[in-house]
Amino acid sequence: MRPHVLASAAVSIDGFLDDASPRRLVLSGAADLDRVDAERAGVDAIVVGAGTVRADDPRLLVRSADRRADRVARGLGPSPLRVVLSTHPVDPAARVLTEGRDVADTVVLHGSPHEVLERLAGHGVVRVMVEGGAAVHRAFLGAGVVDELQLVVAPRLVGEGPRFTGTPASAHLLETRAIDADVLLRYRFGPADARWLAEACSLAERCPPSPSAFSVGCVVVAADGTVLATGHSRRDDVLDHAEEVALRDVDRSDPRLPGATLYTSLEPCGQRASRPVTCAQHILDAGIGRVVMAWREPPLFVGHPSGAARLEAAGVEVVECPELVDLARRPNRHR
Ligand SMILES: NC(=O)c1ccc[n+]([C@@H]2O[C@H](COP(=O)([O-])OP(=O)(O)OC[C@H]3O[C@@H](n4cnc5c(N)ncnc54)[C@H](OP(=O)(O)O)[C@@H]3O)[C@@H](O)[C@H]2O)c1
Ligand SMILES: [Zn+2]
Repeated sequence: MRPHVLASAAVSIDGFLDDASPRRLVLSGAADLDRVDAERAGVDAIVVGAGTVRADDPRLLVRSADRRADRVARGLGPSPLRVVLSTHPVDPAARVLTEGRDVADTVVLHGSPHEVLERLAGHGVVRVMVEGGAAVHRAFLGAGVVDELQLVVAPRLVGEGPRFTGTPASAHLLETRAIDADVLLRYRFGPADARWLAEACSLAERCPPSPSAFSVGCVVVAADGTVLATGHSRRDDVLDHAEEVALRDVDRSDPRLPGATLYTSLEPCGQRASRPVTCAQHILDAGIGRVVMAWREPPLFVGHPSGAARLEAAGVEVVECPELVDLARRPNRHR
């Protein structure tokens, strides 16, 4: 299964990734750099091209000690695997090779984006962050392997330098967020069901860990693509299920609910010990007509999971996307 790819870049207003000077140009502000650090902490591998290593000499490490400790508590290494794409040996003095060797390994790979991702998948990598530079972004976007793009526009003009480019494709805007003076634009690519289900799987990564319950993410989307609600396990309370918290936020009289789709990383529960109302029942009560899920509930905490069967018996269309099962399982690695 191909890993999920998040491409991340900061650009100037005029679309440049860097200026033409040999000095490293940091485009976005401290708050955005901290956000990028959090994104790094959420992946299994960070990919850059040799051009970026030569130009910027990055370390490619999770900077925050708290985030590194959190990764260790989740059974991961303190910082993701560092991957440099190059057809040549990397300068042995590069910081990606000399620094942080106690917290992350570095590998040098070559090949097409598909081949590189296949090799990484073979090493258990499920989430990848591609950080650039210009040639690598263009190659990954052109190969159609980018699932999510996080583009930050910094408030300056540069005039000359490497540009952020791709090849013709439509992107779907998920979110715009002002971060101090920077603006984050979040896009996804691909067909609607895969996009929204991958987004639900990303929300599952936000769940506070629990030894006795699953980490699940959920997005409720109207037929016109409007997000009606999002949720993840234990969001407001330790007993919360993702679908339950998402549906808590929707107006039950909203006329868009019968035409809406509920995307969930794990099959909605059909039996439950923690609370009297199951998520399958919450979905039926909300009148939602379609459910898309990645992972069928393994029979760990209940005898015979029957959420999907209950929904189908009540006339709800249930679609399973097993190609996203690794992504759905990732925050549940201890299972
Ligand atoms: N603003 C941002 O967010 C951001 C982030 C990162 C970088 N940047 C900027 O981007 C610029 C660097 O961009 P760039 O286009 O010059 O370089 P790049 O994309 O970082 O790296 C290009 C190099 O990577 C290697 N490469 C790429 N794809 C490969 C593949 N599939 N297999 C094997 N090797 C592969 C090749 O190296 P070899 O020649 O060694 O084979 C190629 O020359 C710098 O100015 C940097 O500051 C900006
Ligand atoms: Zn549930």
